[in-house]
Amino acid sequence: MIPIELKGRRALITGGDSGLGAATAKSLAQAGADIAIAYRDGPQSAEGVAAAARAFGGKVAIVRLADVANQADVTALFQWMDQEFDGVDILVNNAGIDGHRALCAESDPAAWRRVVDVDLIGPFYCAREAVARMRKRGRGVIINTTSVHEFIPWAGYSAYTSAKAGLSMFSKTLAQEVAGLGIRVIAIAPGAIKTPINADVWQDPKGLADLDAKIPMDRVGEPDEIGHAIAFLCSDLASYITGITVAVDGGMLLYPDFRHGG
Ligand code: BGC
Repeated sequence: MIPIELKGRRALITGGDSGLGAATAKSLAQAGADIAIAYRDGPQSAEGVAAAARAFGGKVAIVRLADVANQADVTALFQWMDQEFDGVDILVNNAGIDGHRALCAESDPAAWRRVVDVDLIGPFYCAREAVARMRKRGRGVIINTTSVHEFIPWAGYSAYTSAKAGLSMFSKTLAQEVAGLGIRVIAIAPGAIKTPINADVWQDPKGLADLDAKIPMDRVGEPDEIGHAIAFLCSDLASYITGITVAVDGGMLLYPDFRHGG
């Protein structure tokens, strides 16, 4: 058996209280990591995730991160990490928003900018704090959650697609900068996964059928399928992987319309 072993690794997950972040917190805990769950809204769901993660035996703590796009909040988060965990070995930049659907010409510039702030600038703030700590130990992994929409254009979501494509290139560039320091940087691109962000689509039978038609595997993914992939990528089993995007999407990137005709 080849185990995914993260014992002794200290993992910080932004948005770890819900959706993909919650699944990731549980998967990393299951692999033995100590877990810090950063949440924005009330602590209740973060506490629920923490209780589930604690069942695997490692240290688990929750912390409020009011705004990932606010540099002072991010600095305070990492200072807390130093005090509480004495550093960080794994950063999962998971917190993100997709914004309100609006065609570009009709979109509100402030709302557009907010998506870029949360989805791109926030991960940048977190990554620079993480690198400053990881380089001292000569090891670390940064996972940036992008989306299949770093590749696939999505009408009405130009801020989101732009931010995710930007985050992808940020990951590659950072990976190049820090590879020699023992730090790996990987983007993970989920497809359609059952989380609150798209619940209005997959909970509606017509929306679900439309979504399934875009996925060669004919099903929406489960949050654990992202958590498990991230646990592997953070582990030493993936020690030679850096600077790429790993898609976990049931084949969504495979131009499913081309299953027929052409
Ligand atoms: C979005 C989801 C969407 C999926 C596939 C994700 O990035 O957050 O709402 O279902 O991409 O289109």
